[in-house]
Amino acid sequence: MTARPIYLDNHATTRVDPRVLAAMTPYFLEEYGNAGSVGHLFGEAARDAVEQARRSIAASVGAEANEIVFTSGATESNNLAIRGVLQQRRRRGDHVVSVTTEHKAVLDPLAKWARSGFEVTLLSPQQQGADHAGQLDPQQVADAIRDDTALVTIMAANNEIGVLHPLAEISRICRERGVPFHCDATQAVGKMELDFDALGVDLASFTAHKFYGPKGCGALYVRRRGKRIRLEPQIDGGGQERGVRSGTLNVPGIIGMASALQLCLAEVTTEIPRQAALRDQLLLGLQTAIDGVTLNGPLCTPPLRLAGNLNVSFAGVDGEALMMNVREIAVSSGSACTSANPEPSHVLQAIGLSEDATRSSLRFGLGRFNRSDDIEFAVTHVSAAVTRLRKMVKPT
Ligand SMILES: Cc1ncc(COP(=O)(O)O)c(C=O)c1O
Repeated sequence: MTARPIYLDNHATTRVDPRVLAAMTPYFLEEYGNAGSVGHLFGEAARDAVEQARRSIAASVGAEANEIVFTSGATESNNLAIRGVLQQRRRRGDHVVSVTTEHKAVLDPLAKWARSGFEVTLLSPQQQGADHAGQLDPQQVADAIRDDTALVTIMAANNEIGVLHPLAEISRICRERGVPFHCDATQAVGKMELDFDALGVDLASFTAHKFYGPKGCGALYVRRRGKRIRLEPQIDGGGQERGVRSGTLNVPGIIGMASALQLCLAEVTTEIPRQAALRDQLLLGLQTAIDGVTLNGPLCTPPLRLAGNLNVSFAGVDGEALMMNVREIAVSSGSACTSANPEPSHVLQAIGLSEDATRSSLRFGLGRFNRSDDIEFAVTHVSAAVTRLRKMVKPT
């Protein structure tokens, strides 16, 4: 029997893999030196381990070691990339291109910049009902770039509807027009093979807790090969990370991130089809058990959608109420990262869902530790709760 409750919220965060925890533990208990301490063995051991982890992380994402800047997570990486580039390039222009369905960790810094006089063009992706719903057409980016465009920032995979944007085409356009391209790759790193150099991406954000590593540890890839990207530091202090991001390095976190990424990439070719099969089992199971289950976002066919992502609306049912009625299953109604904000999902609204359909949606995020009987359990309990809630609201 499956352990209860069942965790199907792997886009919000993931369980630390026990193998990752084992790799991290010595750096809490034995090698606990500050990687910035010179002249003693503890500091040297920590620094050697960090540099080894940096090389390993870089190799996993098509980067050189000196192109990786450690941060506290993807929110910080996005802020560093966006503010860091815009402050550097202010004289070149004051226009930014992005997409309406970005995470708040991109949209909010952009909104702040817009208030200080920058112009932000937010592109609208394909609408619900299209096979590629949620996806950006690269031509939209080409049409939006102007002579004064200082940055393009487009995510790799959406955290709510799992849609994958065509990064190689977008970065080719940016390169041709001489505009730096930042990618929030938070939901994609560890879930697929990514080579930032080959893709032509100039800056990319990611965070360990989305791929079975610890929370509070992320990185920003900053291109140095070919066209070197210059960033204005956002945190000043001890000059760590070549002065781009001061602050004592999170040594166990960095070791954990490297270990987690290695494990993901070793398993990715089997994990993608396995999770996609579970996701398809979940959608089919729900649609067979009850009426009025609509898939939100793109088709589930690769390479349109993250393998572990399912977002559906249940006609006539409030998503929050549904969550409260399936307490043994952890899912999300909207984005957990913005759960302080009770507004309906801006992503679903941006792809054209009505407010009712948006409010009746649930996001399932499948991951490494889910098995087929978790899905059976979810189908049984979610469909029973939907039926119960529909009876409650039906007039007699
Ligand atoms: C696409 C995306 N970007 C950024 C973040 C923020 O990441 P962190 O929690 O590491 O700050 C998240 C978290 O959900 C995300 O999904």
